[in-house]
Amino acid sequence: MPYMNDQARLALSEPETFLDQKAVHQIFTELRREDPVAWCPEPDGGKGFWSITKYDDIQSISKNPKIFSSDRLLGGITLESADMRRRRQTLEKASEDEAGGTGSIITSGSSMIMMDPPAHTQHRRMVAPGFTPGRLNALIPEIRTRCVEILERIAGLGECEFVSAVAAELPIQMLADLLGVEQEDRKKLFEWSNVLIGGDDPDMRIDRDEVMAVFGELFQYAVTLRASRQENPSDDLLSMLANTEVDGKAMELADYVSAFILLVVAGNETTRNSISGGVLALSQYPDERQKLIDDPSLIPNAVDEIIRWVAPVVYMGRTALEDTKVGEKVIKKGDRLALWYMSGNRDEDKWDDPFSFSVTRDGPRHLSFGYGQHLCIGWRLAEIQLTVCLEELLKRFPDVTVLGEVDRMRSNFLNSIKRMQVRYSG
Ligand code: HEM
Repeated sequence: MPYMNDQARLALSEPETFLDQKAVHQIFTELRREDPVAWCPEPDGGKGFWSITKYDDIQSISKNPKIFSSDRLLGGITLESADMRRRRQTLEKASEDEAGGTGSIITSGSSMIMMDPPAHTQHRRMVAPGFTPGRLNALIPEIRTRCVEILERIAGLGECEFVSAVAAELPIQMLADLLGVEQEDRKKLFEWSNVLIGGDDPDMRIDRDEVMAVFGELFQYAVTLRASRQENPSDDLLSMLANTEVDGKAMELADYVSAFILLVVAGNETTRNSISGGVLALSQYPDERQKLIDDPSLIPNAVDEIIRWVAPVVYMGRTALEDTKVGEKVIKKGDRLALWYMSGNRDEDKWDDPFSFSVTRDGPRHLSFGYGQHLCIGWRLAEIQLTVCLEELLKRFPDVTVLGEVDRMRSNFLNSIKRMQVRYSG
C-alpha cells in the first residue's frame, strides 16, 4: 500500500504536497478505500488530526456543530503547516507586544465561519439579506457588463496571463460592489487578501513587520468604512455589519474587522480559483469544451462539475467537543478533524467514474461549498459569476487554451492557481 505509510499521512498537513494534485488524489483514493477516518500525524509539534475522506462522513460531521466545532479558540477551521505555526506564534507575540493595537484586535476577532450556534446564527443573519436569490439575480446584468469589459481588454492580444487579467478581476470587482467600496480600492482588497492567505507560499509571503503594516492599513480602512456606514447607512454588506446589533449591542470592533476580512477573502480567492480551474479543465478536455460551445445551455451544469472538480477550498477543519465515533474510529474530545472536500468530491460511492471531467454529469451535489450550518453564503453568487464568465468567454474566445504548466500556490487549504498563460484567437 504505497500511500498508506506515515510519510503520506504526514504529507497532508504540508502545503508542498498539494502542488502535485495527482499525487494528492492518489493519497485520498487510498484513504477512502483503506482508512476513511485516518489519523494523520503532524510534524514539528503539531498534535495530529483525523482525515475524513468519504462524502457521507463529511456531510454528517458538517451538520453536527454541537459535536464538531468551528470555534476559533479551539482551533478554528484550518490546519497549520509547521511553517504557518511558527509564523502565527511570531505574529501573536508581535500583537501582544503592541497590546491594544491593530494587530491584537485583528488576531483576537472572530467571524461567523469560526463560530458555533447560537453566535454563528446571529452573525450569519446580519449579512444574509445581501445574498437573497432576488438580490443576486438582480446582479446578473452588472456581472455580464463587467465580464464583457474585462474580456474586451484582452481581445486581440493572442495570449495573456489569465489569472490576473480575467479570473481575479471579475470577483474582486463584484466584491467591491457588494461591500459598497470604490472600484479603485479593489487593488488594495486583492493585495490584502493575498497576504492573508498566501503565508505558506514563498512567492507571496511577507515578513512580520510587513504583515503588521498590512494589518494596520486594513484595520484603518475597515474602521473608517464602519464609521461612514454608521453615519450614512445604505444597503451594502458593510452597512449591514456596521449597523446590525447582536443582543442589543453593536458588533465588537474585533469581530467586525474579522467579518470584513472573511468577506474579502472568501468572496475573492475562491471564485477566482474556480474560474481559472474551470478554464484549465476545459482546456485539458477539449471535447467537453466543444459540448458547451455547441450547446451553451449546458454551462450551468458544467459550472457544478467544475466546482466539484476543482474543489477551490480543499478542506475545512473542526474540533470534537466530546468523545464520539466516526465510522469505526473513536474520536476524543479536543481532537482535530479535516473534512477533505477535495476527496469527498471524488467518492466512488457517490459518482460513476468520479475521475472523469464531464459537463453533462448527473449525480449528488458536490461538497465544495461545505454543507449544513456553515454552507457557503456566497455559493449562488460564485455560480452566477462562473456561469456568466464561461458564457462570455466561450462566445468570444472559444479556442482559449492553457499553455504549459500552471503555477500553483503552495497551500493545502486553497486550490489556487497563481499564474496561467492562455492563447486564443479573436
Ligand atoms: C467557488 C467559490 C466558493 C467556494 C468554493 C466557497 C467555499 C466555502 C466553504 C467550503 C464554506 C464552508 C465553511 C465550513 O463549513 O466551515 C464557505 C463559507 C463561507 N463563504 Fe464561501 N465559497 C465560495 C464563494 C464565496 C463567495 C463569492 C462569498 C461572498 C461574497 C463567500 C462567503 C462565504 C462566507 C461568508 C462563509 C461563511 C459562512 C458561515 O460560516 O456560515 N464564499 N465557503
